[in-house]
Amino acid sequence: MKKVITYGTYDLLHEGHVNLLRRAKALGDYLIVGVTNDNFDRERGKLNVRNNVLERVEAVKALGIADQIIIEDYVGQKIDDIQKYGVDIFTVGSDWTGHFDYLNEYCKVVYLPRTEGISSTLLRNESQHVIKLGMVGLGRIASRFVLETAYVSGIDIVTVYDNNPEISGRFVRETGISDVSWNFDDLLKKVDAVYIATPHLSHYEYAKKALSGGKHVLCETPLVLETAQAEELYALAKKNRLVLMEANKTAHCPAFNHLMVMIKSGVIGEVVDVEASLSKLLADKSLREFDKKQAGGSMYELASYPLLPIIKLLGTDYQDFRIYSRMSGGIDVFTKGVLSYPNAVCSFKLGLGVKTEGNLIISGTKGYAYVPSPWWKTDYFELRYEDQNENKKFFYKWDGAGLRYEIQEFVSCIYNGRINSVRLRPVESIAMARIMQQFTERVNLVEI
Ligand code: CTP
Repeated sequence: MKKVITYGTYDLLHEGHVNLLRRAKALGDYLIVGVTNDNFDRERGKLNVRNNVLERVEAVKALGIADQIIIEDYVGQKIDDIQKYGVDIFTVGSDWTGHFDYLNEYCKVVYLPRTEGISSTLLRNESQHVIKLGMVGLGRIASRFVLETAYVSGIDIVTVYDNNPEISGRFVRETGISDVSWNFDDLLKKVDAVYIATPHLSHYEYAKKALSGGKHVLCETPLVLETAQAEELYALAKKNRLVLMEANKTAHCPAFNHLMVMIKSGVIGEVVDVEASLSKLLADKSLREFDKKQAGGSMYELASYPLLPIIKLLGTDYQDFRIYSRMSGGIDVFTKGVLSYPNAVCSFKLGLGVKTEGNLIISGTKGYAYVPSPWWKTDYFELRYEDQNENKKFFYKWDGAGLRYEIQEFVSCIYNGRINSVRLRPVESIAMARIMQQFTERVNLVEI
């Protein structure tokens, strides 16, 4: 019996896929089809796949051409599969010509003619209305955001606004975005969604206005610094059936997500302690980060990141929260926070004027997870145990500035009518605002 194997994503299954699978089957007697796993696709930069792996497997199965369907999870799996299943022929479409010649060592490689004029990418682009996005606040993060949006399909930055016209002018020259709005109302008229990257204290007004005007909102972290404001914004989004997402990039990164679900499934036992640290020493003291009037300081600037694993793993019902801060020039240049839960304690360190080791350690009753600095851009972590033979290392890709993952999730929420993301739920985002407010009100705060 001649065994043939082929691989693909098979998103929005189309005629090109059907033709290829028929041709592949005709090469032998038994056809194995490898369908890529969602994580594997994301890791190799395919961020825009519409159908999840189960839907894609079902679609291929329903054609009745494949004799066996397997899932492709990792780079190098093709060699393993060919040997494991005793494959005689590996085949893919001619768009891959040459790419898989290295498999000739294991079996015959055949490139089949590709069906012209159709692809999943084309179908995705045709079937979706492109979301028109307006950006407000054109500082450092905004330039990175433009570059990252280019990797996500279904969204287009159509206009930008900054309250400083000089900055707007420079921004459009540098990024090639063709339209500048001269006020926020003008911007709202042209868009379906807004990305807010202004200084913290203006987030609330912009987000409220956008949501009241029927626009989806992706807002830089921290969303707001007061519980009531956060609650009001999420309630408004819910009422108007709009997406409101806090742009915490770590929450959406593939490795961090995998770490969270693994820990929740018990790989290190019960979580008893989370320690997270993040520091950023900036030489230019005239920056917003050091300006009290613009809510500068370590806590407002950085706390959303370490609070993320703490809240995701232990929830929002902490019993007590203590803060220790070193103040200088009216802002906290260093803050250490300790949150206690009925059966756990967590701490975080933040520094704009103090350098700390930026790692994340999650300790449990069976082992611990270690994520080296910079853990907030997770691309690698380890699970460690008493018996070192049990230790495991996990490697991932962190592409570019890492904003593409949150942008993709924002787009996916809008298309699929999900008004918020499970990766950072409203209740979690509201808890972060509550913690910021406690800091503002100096409750349980000790200056050191
Ligand atoms: N294929 C084909 N003809 C097409 C499209 C795809 O023969 N018009 C083949 C590919 O060469 C591959 C298989 O179908 O062997 C699965 O490809 P996949 O990447 O899932 O499909 P695409 O439509 O190319 O997807 P995308 O646009 O996301 O890259």
